[in-house]
Amino acid sequence: MTILQGKKILLGVSGGIAAYKTPELVRRLKDQGADVRVVVTQSAKEFVSPLSLQAVSGNDVSESLLDRQAELAMGHIELAKWADFILVAPATANTIAKITHGIADDLLTTVCLASAAPIAIAPAMNQQMWHAKATQENLIVLRNRQYLIFGPGSGDQACGDVGLGRMLDVPELIDACVEQFQDAELSAAGQHWVITAGPTREPIDPVRYISNHSSGKMGYALAQAARRIGAKVTIISGPVNLATPLGCDRIDVESALEMHRAAIAQAPQADVFIACAAVADYRIGQVADQKIKKSQDELTLTLVKNPDIVADVAKLEDKPFVVGFAAETQDVEAYAKGKLLKKNLDMIAANDVAKQGQGFNSDQNALHVFSTTEKFDIALASKAQVAQQLVELIIKQNSK
Ligand code: PMT
Repeated sequence: MTILQGKKILLGVSGGIAAYKTPELVRRLKDQGADVRVVVTQSAKEFVSPLSLQAVSGNDVSESLLDRQAELAMGHIELAKWADFILVAPATANTIAKITHGIADDLLTTVCLASAAPIAIAPAMNQQMWHAKATQENLIVLRNRQYLIFGPGSGDQACGDVGLGRMLDVPELIDACVEQFQDAELSAAGQHWVITAGPTREPIDPVRYISNHSSGKMGYALAQAARRIGAKVTIISGPVNLATPLGCDRIDVESALEMHRAAIAQAPQADVFIACAAVADYRIGQVADQKIKKSQDELTLTLVKNPDIVADVAKLEDKPFVVGFAAETQDVEAYAKGKLLKKNLDMIAANDVAKQGQGFNSDQNALHVFSTTEKFDIALASKAQVAQQLVELIIKQNSK
């Protein structure tokens, strides 16, 4: 039995020359045991006949949003709910742009907007259109929304140009679909993940505090990625300006002591604990009751050490799988490995926070992840993509 056996795949065909490959694509998906339904755009019909697609898929081909008869058979919302997976192949620059901007002016784009299923795009266009800023920026948006982008390939194009923009060949598209379903088998269903995120604020007096530049973006992206694969997620969050990811629970805290209390209360019921927060190592020993007045030329504040939250979670008798972060500005590997051992962690994700455009308060990150025996690199990408890769790594390491 193949991994595509019984999977409901909706193939969306838009109007590019590569549409001629879609009857073969449908046949190969059917060979794998998939149940395939096809939606074509009006311009797709110039390149491939709906009748051929109907014959090879064994199902009616849907083509109109405003067709009463078709809506009676399987309406656009039903189609959107039916699909386990949507593959748009070929995806023209125009269809990609419409999907990116939520334009739903035909059946294919409406189904994409109305479906909760994972969506893959197989771009097919002239190499200049592929390189156009508009197309590339649309693809960044789609990647950040977890759309899968299959291809494109490079080579001779129908218009005579040579370069990137060819739709992947049918066997490559089948492999990409298989890989997607293998990845989807990574599941955290039934697991509870607790994730610390954001900065802490250590009060000096009623109006002042010590803090850092953490925005919470990395921790929240991890929460979203864990939730997406079925985990129950609790975020223990320092003060941030971010909305709680859909379906996650959130406990708001301010200081390291409050974060410590919440973590020690939550961690014993957790399967995975990720310490992504930038916790202040020290707090003010004696917090002033009233606002400190500007009477002296010098002011000395005495700092005392905060408890180490992640190390204390790792000491729990029934400890979860514990993942720490390391924010380093030099000797990243050596310091990260030192923290892994000293804090008795299962894994540590190190980021070089001295580099521009990653780490604190940026939209991108890159990680070097260490277990006691292995090293993995996650290349610079959006925090959503980095989080997805880290979550997959945690699942794999935790199931060893
Ligand atoms: O929030 P963003 O703007 O998206 O930025 C993300 C990030 C840079 C904050 C994040 O990727 C990150 O590196 N988080 C860890 C920051 C940090 O405090 O690193 P550290 O090397 O000082 O601490 C090591 C580990 O111990 C961390 O897991 C930290 O959460 C934990 N720790 C530290 C001190 C303390 N008292 N208790 C802890 O649990």
